[in-house]
Amino acid sequence: MEGYAYYNGRIGRCEDISIPLSDRLIYFGDGVYDVMIGHSGRLFLVDDHIERLFSGIRVLNIYLSMTRDDILDVVDRLIKLSGYKSYLVYISVSRNADERRHSYIDCTFANLLVTVKEFSFSHNNALKLITEPDNRYGYCNIKTVNLLPSVMSATKAEAMGCDEAVFVRNGIVTECAHSNIFIIKDEILITHPESRHILSGIIRKFIIKNAAVFGVGVMERGFTEDELLDADEVIVTSTTKLAQRAISVNGITVGGKGDDIADPLVKFLFESYQNM
Ligand code: PDD
Repeated sequence: MEGYAYYNGRIGRCEDISIPLSDRLIYFGDGVYDVMIGHSGRLFLVDDHIERLFSGIRVLNIYLSMTRDDILDVVDRLIKLSGYKSYLVYISVSRNADERRHSYIDCTFANLLVTVKEFSFSHNNALKLITEPDNRYGYCNIKTVNLLPSVMSATKAEAMGCDEAVFVRNGIVTECAHSNIFIIKDEILITHPESRHILSGIIRKFIIKNAAVFGVGVMERGFTEDELLDADEVIVTSTTKLAQRAISVNGITVGGKGDDIADPLVKFLFESYQNM
């Protein structure tokens, strides 16, 4: 396994760092995580990522003794150690180590795992999507490591030669297995509102905040599968993809009718990352 890792004070190559069996991440997925990308010693939208990580820590009542700056010091040490110019940073905070019991004991300090891997951005402006029933639970807004439905649907998409699975709950598109999704219709960007059924993506938020740059309006509302098929453009967003266009859903061609908005949007995201 490539890359460098930190776990509770130990630092080394990923293959040399192990986590104890008693870590509650293993038995219960009892922890939160975040993923960032960066280059040249910097991290893209770092404040938003750290804020989301800490908000998950607060919601789950996890006692982390480290501060934001402590965590970023660890990240910095790993980046320097790796020598990578562009990197993907994974941070996970698990509740603690304990005997296997469902309920947890308060006030024992959390475990911190950080990994840094080499990253190169791959432009793919022609994503193929499938739809999947959104069978996930009601805590999708917390970035926990309980990702089984996403794992199953992402694997199914790949096995079908596609790039992402779009989740549909009661006829409404929520998000994708590991991304958020927007449609553009009549110069309006439409995406599912923040709720317990989606993760509030950092790139999603960045696009909404900067929508005026591309001269479009924003509507945060659920949209149907029919609206997805009929959209002027379909845009999938995440930290590792930034913003990418989709060209098909279940083999049916979608989008391609709003280059004047989609092209500048995709370019703006990439340039914001390049020039951060
Ligand atoms: N996934 N929705 C889900 C379910 C996700 O897993 C992700 C990110 C997003 C997009 O969030 P952001 O813009 O903050 O990356 C939305 C990351 C990249 C992952 O788990 O690797």
